[in-house]
Amino acid sequence: MSAIPDEFHLIAEKISAEIKAGNSVAALQSAAVGFPGQVVFSSSLGKEDQVLTEMIATAGLAQKIEIFSLDTGRLFEETQYLLNLTNKAYSLKIKVYFPEAGDVETLVREKGSYSFFDSVENRKECCFIRKVKPLKRALQNQKIWVTGIRAAQSTGRAEMLPVELDEDHNVLKIHPLFYFTDEELESYIQEHSVPVNELHKKNYPSIGCAPCTSPVKPGDDPRSGRWWWEQNTGRECGLHAAN
Ligand code: ADX
Ligand code: SF4
Repeated sequence: MSAIPDEFHLIAEKISAEIKAGNSVAALQSAAVGFPGQVVFSSSLGKEDQVLTEMIATAGLAQKIEIFSLDTGRLFEETQYLLNLTNKAYSLKIKVYFPEAGDVETLVREKGSYSFFDSVENRKECCFIRKVKPLKRALQNQKIWVTGIRAAQSTGRAEMLPVELDEDHNVLKIHPLFYFTDEELESYIQEHSVPVNELHKKNYPSIGCAPCTSPVKPGDDPRSGRWWWEQNTGRECGLHAAN
């Protein structure tokens, strides 16, 4: 881990070992103890994120790890409903970030509400305004950023590491479920009665914004429904830039 600066070095090794050993809760605890008040978890309300929310809540870490969600203004109704349900189920107040009103007004006035279908450049502009810029606010003055990324989600993600330095935001980025298989994730959800998005039952394995997510056929790449009209663009929105 030579690229990791000194302040993160020891904790990065500890958390990395805990994730490799399959001990996600220990990794979350180490993060909370290592940088009190400076650990945040970004939840898209996806299955992985729901599992992490359950782990944080049941391990008594909700006061130590702030859970936030980026509401792009284009989410599915089902996703917003799940956020509400999750807050109630675990007595949480997930901190919701919205895009800057002026940015959205300019975008929609100049290019309309569906500019993302016109070009990859336009799509990235919309993701930048609605996700990447609000993320920067959420990560300000933080040290550790927890995500629900797993290696099994895509070949690109399989090449990532469970603990990485995010130089853009100057935070240590950790993925406690990195080595969870699809089966392990499903078993955890069943065993712990974790609430998940109703859309999963309708063949939406990976859920983002409503206009940019389609259902997939059984057996297809689970991320193929994301930005379904694009070819070979890596199917990433810029939140995970190094990827
Ligand atoms: S994305 O980059 O393609 O949108 P994906 O949906 O797989 O990402 O989610 C990967 C991780 O990115 C999630 O586990 C979560 O930590 C973070 N993330 C993605 N979308 C959001 C969102 N709207 N709000 C908060 N975190 C998000
Ligand atoms: Fe915009 Fe689609 Fe990106 Fe959502 S996923 S921010 S609607 S381009």
